Amino acid sequence: MNIERIAILGTGSMGGAILAGLLKSGISPNNISVSTKTTASAERLADELGVLAFAMEDGDDANQMAVANAQLVLIGVKPAYVLEVLADVADSLNDNTLVVSVAAGVPTAAMEAVLPEDVGVIRAMPNTPAIVGRALTGVAAGSRATDWAVETATQLFETVGQVLVLDESQIDALGTISGSGPAYVFYLIEQLTKAAKHHGFSDRDAALLVNQTFLGAAELLVASDKTPEQLRKQVTSPNGTTERAIARLAQTDLEGMFIEATEAALARSRELAEGKA
Ligand SMILES: NC(=O)c1ccc[n+]([C@@H]2O[C@H](COP(=O)([O-])OP(=O)(O)OC[C@H]3O[C@@H](n4cnc5c(N)ncnc54)[C@H](OP(=O)(O)O)[C@@H]3O)[C@@H](O)[C@H]2O)c1
Repeated sequence: MNIERIAILGTGSMGGAILAGLLKSGISPNNISVSTKTTASAERLADELGVLAFAMEDGDDANQMAVANAQLVLIGVKPAYVLEVLADVADSLNDNTLVVSVAAGVPTAAMEAVLPEDVGVIRAMPNTPAIVGRALTGVAAGSRATDWAVETATQLFETVGQVLVLDESQIDALGTISGSGPAYVFYLIEQLTKAAKHHGFSDRDAALLVNQTFLGAAELLVASDKTPEQLRKQVTSPNGTTERAIARLAQTDLEGMFIEATEAALARSRELAEGKA
């Protein structure tokens, strides 16, 4: 990445995951500044990772200090604080800084409105597997973002997984699939674990059976050139036990259920964008 200094404003779960990815990719902690709300978080990041860390608890200018000389500013605060934080640092940004926000539901136009005109904005939607370098991140350009900005944001999120560049009109929909998706997968794991316990397995053994099955199936899918449908059919002998189970699952119309669930998530993201609590 052709960037000398990166600032991360809000370095919690997601900001912290991306920070870890950047460090793992070989970027020196000396070239990264971060900010947090609490002194305890800033001290931990400085002590454990060696980055320059500022806390709002230590001074209202923490975010301004963090963006000093940065060419790329990643916004990792909760959505409700994004515009406030950006307005606060607007006058401290370098010329032509790139701002990349991971906040759900805050459009690039709203961010552009509080920033100088030479500052480009990218909106991104990563997911929690970023913590283990297996994220899927959607990246969407705002009206002032150049090709370089999109390429730089892509490289930034490739440090924690794979990237899909898309139009901003699609980013909320992406959020309902890959952003929320890990929760759907964990929910399925929880339900299959309950079924394992129903069949008499201990908590420990049920977790082993189900977790290893999800991991194994996911790794098999990635390693194979077959589609999920082809791999499912490989497990499903005609007239066998799996076929009976799949026939019963199909009666519940899981496809329709996932469409309804993701539509519900999309409706909620529109409510959040309108400022509804
Ligand atoms: N988690 C996800 O799955 C996910 C996925 C996609 C996008 N996102 C987006 O990521 C953003 C952060 O979510 P998160 O789950 O990482 O939240 P989080 O763990 O609560 O992290 C928020 C961070 O912001 C810091 N902070 C709070 N107020 C601040 C301020 N005024 N200035 C600077 N830093 C401040 C907090 O400091 P302390 O550490 O001192 O509390 C913390 O480090 C959200 O906008 C969310 O929409 C999250």
